[in-house]
Amino acid sequence: MTVRSINKDVLFVGSIHWDRKIFDELIPLPEGTSYNAYIIKGSEKTVLIDSVDPEKWHELEKNLCELGIDKIDYIVTNHAEQDHSGSIPMLLEKFPEAKVVTNEKCKAFEMDHLHICEDKFIVVKDNETLSLGNKTLRFLLTPWVHWPETMVTYLEEDKILFSCDFFGSHYAGSDLYAGNNAVVVHGAKRYYAEIMMPFRTTIVKNIEKVTQFEIKMIAPSHGPIYDNPEVIIEAYRDWTSDKVKKEVLIPYVSMHGSTKLMVEYLADRLMSKGFAVKPFNLPVTDIGEIAMSLVDASTIIIGSPMVLGGAHPAAVYAAFLANALRPKTKFVSIIGSYGWGGKMIDQLSGLIANLKVEVIEPVLFKGMPREEDYRKIDAMIETLEEKHKSI
Ligand code: FEO
Repeated sequence: MTVRSINKDVLFVGSIHWDRKIFDELIPLPEGTSYNAYIIKGSEKTVLIDSVDPEKWHELEKNLCELGIDKIDYIVTNHAEQDHSGSIPMLLEKFPEAKVVTNEKCKAFEMDHLHICEDKFIVVKDNETLSLGNKTLRFLLTPWVHWPETMVTYLEEDKILFSCDFFGSHYAGSDLYAGNNAVVVHGAKRYYAEIMMPFRTTIVKNIEKVTQFEIKMIAPSHGPIYDNPEVIIEAYRDWTSDKVKKEVLIPYVSMHGSTKLMVEYLADRLMSKGFAVKPFNLPVTDIGEIAMSLVDASTIIIGSPMVLGGAHPAAVYAAFLANALRPKTKFVSIIGSYGWGGKMIDQLSGLIANLKVEVIEPVLFKGMPREEDYRKIDAMIETLEEKHKSI
């Protein structure tokens, strides 16, 4: 990885992780990711904004060496998660005079997670500024985007917002800038769905907080830099709004084909009534795809057979995931086949307590669906059509 210039004083010194396939041992990364770190050279002080995942420390070190950086005055750390903060201990060994600049909460997290000594920190408050000589950093606390300590840093003279995870995307690409690349926005939507969506209401406030400043560029700590920031800001406004699409997400699993028969009938009938449908066969689905669909869908219908007295574990996981991600979904239902009985409805209903949804009458059927079971699905669709008139 080589250093790349944003302008003569602001440089990208981060690392692209082309082949990383999973994050937090949970989130698939089909496009890889990057850990963006930036050097800002002020007339009096040199600053590093965020660091990189410790696995990539050698690349950050090489980039700083290539730039001839022999002194860093401040390491600004916007977020304590280790993919951005994890190389700070190595930086402090290499640049022992550097001070770590962050807010009180982030300081505490980094003392716990990285064992950085308290005397290394300079603590800043919301809206506080730090002079680099001819340049000024302004720190804006943006809690719960997506941890309680998250903040962003605004470089006033260049009007660049260093947003860390906020607006970021797990996207490894050779272009420094996003331009109008729809693939980057798609990656950012996946990132929003997996990481940010549970904090939608606080993110709405933080979008307004950061956009009170004129922003020429958003430089996140994952993915390309937004040289046309309105694109991603407007996308975030849309994702975080209360608007839902007339779209039905059908995460399902079928052991011997009976539930699948009903899912296919349901999907066909919904399409004929003007609904967009997204069936996901859970055992072969990337959970990121489900998360992304939860951003806009008005309705979730979980399809599962009963096994061992309850829902299939894949359906349990889908319900757990939807509950944790807290989408703005309005309606939920359940369909599925059973052999002799069980408590699937109670079990799945108990797993989605976080969702502010109206439950549409589930449809369970014994064995393979019969004519009367298909008519129940017709009734479910009629109910959904009626409900969608009011949203
Ligand atoms: Fe990219 Fe929350 O760390």
